[in-house]
Amino acid sequence: MTALPFPFPVVTWDDQEVVLIDQTLLPERLTWRRCGSVTSLCLAIGELAVRGAPAIGVAAGFGLALSWRLAMEKESHITGILARFQKDREQLSATRPTAVNLFWALDRLGSLAEQLVAHGKTADEIAIDLLVEAQAVLDEDVAMCRSLGMHGQQLLPDFATVLTHCNAGGLATGGYGTAVGVVFAAKESGKTISVFADETRPLLQGSRLTAWELQNQGIEVTVICDSAAASIMSQGKVDAVITGADRIAANGDVANKIGTYPLAVLANRHGVPFYVAAPGSTFDAATKTGDDIAIELRDPHEVHEFHGGRATPEGVGAWNPAFDVTPNDLISAIITEHGVVRPPYRENLAKVWK
Ligand code: MRU
Repeated sequence: MTALPFPFPVVTWDDQEVVLIDQTLLPERLTWRRCGSVTSLCLAIGELAVRGAPAIGVAAGFGLALSWRLAMEKESHITGILARFQKDREQLSATRPTAVNLFWALDRLGSLAEQLVAHGKTADEIAIDLLVEAQAVLDEDVAMCRSLGMHGQQLLPDFATVLTHCNAGGLATGGYGTAVGVVFAAKESGKTISVFADETRPLLQGSRLTAWELQNQGIEVTVICDSAAASIMSQGKVDAVITGADRIAANGDVANKIGTYPLAVLANRHGVPFYVAAPGSTFDAATKTGDDIAIELRDPHEVHEFHGGRATPEGVGAWNPAFDVTPNDLISAIITEHGVVRPPYRENLAKVWK
């Protein structure tokens, strides 16, 4: 297998293009997809070539930097450039509804562009500033994930076994990872940690991506079918469940990959701590509870098809929500870049993520 530099180069800027590890092709092929237009980047986000809440935010940041540069080739006046940029911002915001990091990054670069225009900066100056800002989104994400990893690893004893769901690793972020970042940080602290990775139907982010990147970093990983989690917990083989998040509401309810909520129920049933690891860019203070989080419904064909063949008879229906919401009372702690936050979440999250 190809050993990658770590943190992984998941999303980068190269020669006026946004360059992504194409996660649809892993683990069979490690290739990069080059997006030279905002439309091609939106397609990549929709197809999950780039995925995971923080990585989507990073990609969107570079997407807006790209948008500005492309608009400069078509428009001679700054108002025309800004109008094209705002259209691209809308197109990017329509790609996936649940991960708040997308909207966080779009707002960050979008309002920066508006301010710079209002202050009379030239189009060339704004192009530079937007790229610097997009790179800052990436660099800050890596720093936040490293920091939350160091806080989170203190929850794990040496030789602990962690169960995780979907992929909340380097591939889902700027390169370091949230839930899996905690495991990487434990390793950096000299601990030996092993991981059970839920395969994560229907798109197998756990078996394809989490297992791949843990193996890449020399960490023992065992893939289980999603339905095996109860048995493995009942046998006392799991010391902690750690997942990532796509959006954390003000009260600590967490939207994450479909199948996270049942894991939290199981962890509570078996007395296993259930942790969520996420950076501040995933916190949405404006969303009061999990009931207010928009859950992406994906194409049923992802359920109907498996391994290139049909998994269901022709003519039956399939329901394919990409995420579910775990109520805050099932969450033992939320691991942030500022430390480990315990209930009551409404008060305590507001203190760390002001
Ligand atoms: O549909 P995906 O693959 O983008 O879903 C990703 C997840 O649910 C992750 O757990 C979440 O984004 C956290 S990533 C650090």
